Amino acid sequence: MQHLITPNDFTNEEIVNLFEDATIFNDLQASSVLNGKLVITLFFENSTRTRSSFEIAAKRLGAKVVNLDVSTSSSSKGETLIDTVANLNAMKPDAIIIRHRDCGLPASLVEHVDCPIINAGDGMNAHPTQSLLDLFTIINHFDGKQNGKKVAITGDIKTSRVASSNLQLLPRFGLELILVAPEHFMPLGDFRKVQFLRDVVDEVDVVMSLRTQLERHSQTYYKSLEDFGKDYCVTSDIIGSRDILIMHPGPVNRNIDISDELLADKRCKVLEQVTNGVAVRMAILKKLILQ
Ligand code: CP
Repeated sequence: MQHLITPNDFTNEEIVNLFEDATIFNDLQASSVLNGKLVITLFFENSTRTRSSFEIAAKRLGAKVVNLDVSTSSSSKGETLIDTVANLNAMKPDAIIIRHRDCGLPASLVEHVDCPIINAGDGMNAHPTQSLLDLFTIINHFDGKQNGKKVAITGDIKTSRVASSNLQLLPRFGLELILVAPEHFMPLGDFRKVQFLRDVVDEVDVVMSLRTQLERHSQTYYKSLEDFGKDYCVTSDIIGSRDILIMHPGPVNRNIDISDELLADKRCKVLEQVTNGVAVRMAILKKLILQ
């Protein structure tokens, strides 16, 4: 039984095969490959993209989807999460997709189920499907010639599960990372680190902006997000006419993470990431459910 908890659960070869499927699925509105299968989604944190993307992916493959409304589930009556998941597992689903604020929670469920667990984001730990769709978008853009391209990741890197998974995954496919953030948003680790995007804008091929995860902060760093945006908003003024791919996992805080003007620029791939997210998740569901 294979689960997807972090990007390291898949080898490079598995990811290459996954992306071959995702490329086919990107052109496909419907398939019957998961007819008769059942997927349960369990989101204890809000989501627009990941939850709807998984649901659409499952339905496009012919699977049925049950979204457990956690606000009306028996969690509020004192049932432990492990018991909740064990009970859902007893209904014989073919995969359980879970998002939770606690780091490591999806990994702790693996031994209590008979179907794949897919981590849809656990605290600031990991967001493997986001990093896979980000990598897919980058590889597609560079037509498979991404080796040696430089990716600047900027913003609140330290508390970002997207960054955490991309720090693991992108270098495995030859991408060089440069972290751009103030000291308090820098993660530990042996990465190239700079304070401002202007310091490296002439050498980067991709800029990946991140939201400031206020919900994960234990202290206040700025009077307001606008204050942070003054130094860290990715703008047309900084990027200029350079051939740089602009990415963001969403949700975007406009004019704080990326300016309105740049979000409307053809170099900005934010919505292409979302489209690719469905195809990559279709490939992930197919791989894990039919394993
Ligand atoms: N990128 C991402 O995880 O977005 P959602 O929180 O809307 O799922």
